[in-house]
Amino acid sequence: MGTASQPARPARAGDEPFDTARYRQALGTFATGITVVTTRAPDGSLAGVTCNSFNSLSLSPPLVLWSLRKDSRSLPAFQDAGHFAVNVLAHDQEAVSRTFASKGEDRFAQVDHRPGVAGLPLIEGAVSRFQCRLRQEVDGGDHVLFIGEVLDFAHEPRPALVFHEGAYKTTATTADLDTVA
Ligand SMILES: Cc1cc2nc3c(=O)[nH]c(=O)nc-3n(C[C@H](O)[C@H](O)[C@H](O)COP(=O)(O)O)c2cc1C
Repeated sequence: MGTASQPARPARAGDEPFDTARYRQALGTFATGITVVTTRAPDGSLAGVTCNSFNSLSLSPPLVLWSLRKDSRSLPAFQDAGHFAVNVLAHDQEAVSRTFASKGEDRFAQVDHRPGVAGLPLIEGAVSRFQCRLRQEVDGGDHVLFIGEVLDFAHEPRPALVFHEGAYKTTATTADLDTVA
């Protein structure tokens, strides 16, 4: 028997219109980490977006993937740059996530960062960073899927930021927070 949140019938039956709001809610049950993907465009300008579509694609060769909305203002920078960096955010970087998900103009003025491979902006305080060469761009409906080959990476064993059902959470336990406070 179904409840309001768990219907017995499928979300899409017969001629029913596709329920986008419920579809997004269902997708939101998949907990993810949060990254800021950054790049340096050929004209030297920096671009970065908050992104939870990041995942590992292949171990050998080391490939990762993520996707960006086609109406993103940052799309041309990522298409032209040839490289990108994935910065996995730490438990205390919710403000960084909000900055790179907002419409604000100078996002990089608000976070500490330093140059990496090909001048890629690397965000200080991230749990891990993957510096990549763009290997393939795939059309994906209203998004573009980027596949990158990992050239370099770094990792610090600290609690990470999590996104689940539209809310920020962390992987930190009480013991972790005592340690990192
Ligand atoms: C937790 C979280 C995850 C997000 N993941 C993605 C993503 O994977 N792909 C995407 O295109 N936008 C994603 N967004 C939205 C972008 O960060 C947001 O649209 C950003 O403003 C795009 O900036 P731009 O249009 O200046 O490029 C996410 C936002 C949040 C808060």
